[in-house]
Amino acid sequence: MRWNSFLYKMFSSDLAMDLGTANTLVHARGRGIILNEPSVVSISKETGQLLAVGATAKAMYGKTPDRINVIRPMKDGVIADFDSTRLMIEYFIRTSQIKRISLKPKIVIGVPSGITQVEKRAVIDAALGAGVREVNLVEEPMAAAVGTGMPVGESCGNLIVDIGGGTTEVAIISMYATAYVESIRVAGDEMDEAIVRYMRQKHNLDIGIFEGERVKMNIGSAYPLEGRIKMKVFGRDIVSGIPGSVVFNDEEAREAMEEPVNAIFAAVRKAIENTTPEFAMDISSRGIVLAGGGSLIKGLGKALTRDLQIPVYRSKDPLTSVARGAGVVLENWDTYKRVAIN
Ligand SMILES: Nc1ncnc2c1ncn2[C@@H]1O[C@H](COP(=O)(O)OP(=O)(O)OP(=O)(O)O)[C@@H](O)[C@H]1O
Ligand SMILES: [Mg+2]
Repeated sequence: MRWNSFLYKMFSSDLAMDLGTANTLVHARGRGIILNEPSVVSISKETGQLLAVGATAKAMYGKTPDRINVIRPMKDGVIADFDSTRLMIEYFIRTSQIKRISLKPKIVIGVPSGITQVEKRAVIDAALGAGVREVNLVEEPMAAAVGTGMPVGESCGNLIVDIGGGTTEVAIISMYATAYVESIRVAGDEMDEAIVRYMRQKHNLDIGIFEGERVKMNIGSAYPLEGRIKMKVFGRDIVSGIPGSVVFNDEEAREAMEEPVNAIFAAVRKAIENTTPEFAMDISSRGIVLAGGGSLIKGLGKALTRDLQIPVYRSKDPLTSVARGAGVVLENWDTYKRVAIN
């Protein structure tokens, strides 16, 4: 190693970021994942000033006075709000840097595969605005596949399904390139919303979106469980208008989430139906890999195997696959630079 490149590695804080709808993660060269926060900001309506970011901002949701906006800038897997996305990216990059002696870092950012030119520009500008030297973008399913250790460089069909908060991305990857990709706006958030609707329709209970998420995480499933599980769900009774609760079980939760789960399965089926027979054969022998927080739904893999008759595996730590994959790209740049999209 040349001396200047050694010095560079010592003092640089090169970063990899998963800019997710639900969560943003930052991986730093040699240090692993150093930041994992909800993609939420709170902003003053009067001054446009950033008040809080991440978990602190998320905790304010539904509880702020009129003059404060709590925003999820990346809703639905695209940049819904440019200004707040920019503030959020800048904040996360700044807090991730080694303060004392750092050189301007290079960054690899995982972005949704459907990202437009304008959105790409916005992400790049935000990172440059935060003092980054060089920005490289990688599509999230590619990063997830790399992070999971799939042989993305081989000439074989690697089917990865990244079920995030806002979007599910289904991609077939071969020889460092994406041979097929579809991004649908149905993922974890839609499941939460489906539970909220179900509670309202079946139990006259108005619940918040994060209560819906809590139900999904605790008792949500895609395949019948071995035993019954239930939990108390809190909200406001629509009829009386006063706070109330309902005991909800996994069977009802499964029914409530059925539509979004089926939409995800349909997207996976479509990918296999639309690909070449050669890729289809690879996929049926190698199996499908699931990543993203939504893949943690109980029984999801089992239900998908039942539907498609193909083995399904889950990435070891599905919430961090994209960030870890972007980290691998960053740390092995000569091999992986060809997966960057800008
Ligand atoms: N244990 C769990 N069971 C079920 N769902 C979970 C669990 N943990 C997290 N989730 C869900 O995973 C989703 C977030 O996943 P992830 O962090 O991968 O999304 P993201 O990368 O931010 O979003 P996107 O990829 O769409 O931009 C949320 O909908 C969350 O409710
Ligand atoms: Mg994601």
